[in-house]
Amino acid sequence: MSDLQASLIDALQQAVAAAVAAALGDEHAGTDPLLRPSKDTKFGDFQANLAMSLGKKLGKPPRQLADMIAQQLQPGDLLSKVEVAGPGFINLTVSAQALNRATAVMLKSERLAVPLIQAAGTAVIDYGSPNCAKEMHIGHLRSSIIGDAISRVLEFRGERVIRQNHLGDWGTQFGMLLELLLEQGWSSSGEGSSIHDLDELYRQAKQKFDADAGFAERARMRVVKLQAGDEPSLKLWQSLINESARHMNEVFRLLGVRLTDKDIRPESFYNSRLPQVVEALRATGALVESEGAQVVFPNGFKDREGEPLPMIVQKSDGGFGYAATDLAAARFRVGELQAKRVIYVVDARQSDHFAMLFTVLNSVGWTNGAEFEHVAFGTILGADKKPFKTRAGGTVRLIEVLEEATKRAATVSGEKLEGASDAERAELSRAVGVSAVKYADLSSDRIKDYVFDWDRMLALEGNTAPYLQNAYVRIRSIFRKGEVSMEQLDPAMINIEAPEERMLAVHLSLLSATLDQVATSLEPHRLCGYLYELASLYHRFYEHCPVLKAETAVKQSRLALSALTGRVLALGLELLGISVIERM
Ligand code: ARG
Repeated sequence: MSDLQASLIDALQQAVAAAVAAALGDEHAGTDPLLRPSKDTKFGDFQANLAMSLGKKLGKPPRQLADMIAQQLQPGDLLSKVEVAGPGFINLTVSAQALNRATAVMLKSERLAVPLIQAAGTAVIDYGSPNCAKEMHIGHLRSSIIGDAISRVLEFRGERVIRQNHLGDWGTQFGMLLELLLEQGWSSSGEGSSIHDLDELYRQAKQKFDADAGFAERARMRVVKLQAGDEPSLKLWQSLINESARHMNEVFRLLGVRLTDKDIRPESFYNSRLPQVVEALRATGALVESEGAQVVFPNGFKDREGEPLPMIVQKSDGGFGYAATDLAAARFRVGELQAKRVIYVVDARQSDHFAMLFTVLNSVGWTNGAEFEHVAFGTILGADKKPFKTRAGGTVRLIEVLEEATKRAATVSGEKLEGASDAERAELSRAVGVSAVKYADLSSDRIKDYVFDWDRMLALEGNTAPYLQNAYVRIRSIFRKGEVSMEQLDPAMINIEAPEERMLAVHLSLLSATLDQVATSLEPHRLCGYLYELASLYHRFYEHCPVLKAETAVKQSRLALSALTGRVLALGLELLGISVIERM
């Protein structure tokens, strides 16, 4: 690949690898150069930190190795300066022409120079996946929006993404609910009952289930009947599902989550495949009987007493559980959907379940060469650091959160917007409010818990949605004021000079590498961090480098840099599922 096509970071990587090979021998050429953008231009634009790791490996002073490598990195077309500092950092300054070229290539490219991945495979992403018959609550937020962001990133990189909403429509919760309703004389249709009613009925059913052993038994038998195709059970069940799905789709629409009816492949879908799963497992010899149930003991899993932990495939009453359905779903995904990657975006509290599932799939040879990944995430906490609840201690309804976000955002957005209609203001508040909630979630380290904090998520400063949206708005306003179109700039005019321009351009060049990292780690917060840094660097650039007031050539170059920043921000927000707004 010529430098012209390779991204700046690829070109640097190749140059360092070649220098390592020349200095230390070909066998070391593959060493990760550990390239990082420098915090300050006085240390160049990038640092290559591989001398430290090589030093350990080869038992030589890193400084000496750094000098040897640096000697092979002659200034030229790509680099203007190479220096060794401290214990062995190699500071690289990119030549003006290379930086200008890399920036121009991005500006010219519709995809902002992010290559489509070669030999893309199919990724199945299981997200959203609520248990229905319950109203959507705060506990459903994370899977929905993290999964959505991941889907968008993989899709943009050219992977074939199949979204799957593994709707919980088939388990014990339905046994309880149906049993209660049928005993109360409900017949085939729960029509007219809203999700809100169902939520309340479900609470009653659960109470009765916990208090009344007879009811609990009947509820369990109800599941077995339902799964066996009992007509009255099925009919009532269907009407409950319809109402749940209607509500769920509405919430996804408000959230801007791209899950629709066609992505729903609920637990019940796998019902007819469950007996086959049992038979196929039996054939592998992995299935054993334990206390009347059909189970598998995945290697290495123990309960608290140190006894082998079973994964229950078929209960003693003949019913199938969560695990059986997941076995069937896994087979379907790698078999019929041809997935090369199966991604489950589910709460960290289910980590054991997925670890066991993947172990079983591997041990019986059912992965079909696909990679299985559990994308786990932490819990949303209240100010008291306990799982987020309403003041009264109840579950926080998702619809309510979105309404409150919209209301609170009215003070951040649109207040001073001249000539805006009430409808526009309302639309804007919604975009800012919902985005703030989503971004606060996506930007926190995925695996950790985080505290739900209205003031922080709506702040105009800091790593927040309003800050990023505002950065984009500011760029748009420059173009409005200057009466220039963001699309009509000449890449040939780009000429990076000031340190603030350099740092911005260097950071822009990292877009593709950042998306690579997100696609590998499945951590959207890395993209948030990148965008936040980008907005901050743009802010700094804007303070030090006049744009519209500069003389023509400089103005053209700075406009081009601004346009590129705006497009990268817009793309990044879009991939996170955050609304890009024109004014606020
Ligand atoms: N419905 C489940 C729950 O609410 C999540 C399903 C996740 N996906 C899966 N294939 N198990 O806990």
